[in-house]
Amino acid sequence: MQRKLGIIGGSGLYDIAGLEGAAWHQVDSPWGTPSDAVLTGVLGGLPIAFLPRHGRGHVHSPSAVPYRANIDALKRLGVTDIVSISAVGSFREELAPGDFVIVDQFIDRTFARDKSFFGTGCVAHVGFGHPTCTRLGDAVAAAGAAFGLNMHRGGTYLAMEGPQFSTRAESLMYRGWGCDVIGMTAMPEAKLAREAEICYATVAMVTDYDSWHPGHDSVDVAAVIATLTANSTAGKALVGALPAHLQPFDPCPCGCDRALDHAIMTASDKR
Ligand code: ADE
Repeated sequence: MQRKLGIIGGSGLYDIAGLEGAAWHQVDSPWGTPSDAVLTGVLGGLPIAFLPRHGRGHVHSPSAVPYRANIDALKRLGVTDIVSISAVGSFREELAPGDFVIVDQFIDRTFARDKSFFGTGCVAHVGFGHPTCTRLGDAVAAAGAAFGLNMHRGGTYLAMEGPQFSTRAESLMYRGWGCDVIGMTAMPEAKLAREAEICYATVAMVTDYDSWHPGHDSVDVAAVIATLTANSTAGKALVGALPAHLQPFDPCPCGCDRALDHAIMTASDKR
């Protein structure tokens, strides 16, 4: 199967440089209108589909992002692998603003979003013990190393609803739970990618120390934007280097691309 890489860009990443044959496409989905048109083209010989999660101009708040339409639109374009990029706060001294974390676990505390493609007519429960794809994580790690980025492999991402940032008490509690970073968007994106049988990895770009750190002010948008701006070149370089490091497995050893094989509970004559 021809692999196609989907990139979901977070705050600060609204297009992809150096894309051959670049064109924006409006993709229709029965799950609603995606966040924006999708930019397709070829990068380093690999077909790419790029979707800005918040829309160009940053018009969708984390709770209002049409996550199901976004994943469905990428699936319809033939995307087999998704690398998503998002800004996060850090719960660890050693995960400093400007660093990148290749997340491998999540705690989902979001509550106001549609989180599944299934529920009426067809019931499915996909496995999610290992929510990210190791092969994609390897590609991100290698691409980051090629540019000397400060990358950390593995980490637990606390997904919060927002849009307000956490209180100090919440921040201390999440730290006590063993979380490494906090953000507002990787869920339900990761769950929906698994249901769509698309391999998924997420790269968290640390912008702040959230609200727990005694030596840092509470997080605010100005601090987040300042770090994002300072790191946008690194983020773009990381994306540009991905195709050279992505191993073309078919099927994927992680099994993400066969998640529905044993997940559907509804009898086939009822579907
Ligand atoms: N995105 C960037 N920094 C964040 C934080 N501290 N909490 C939630 N989302 C974030």
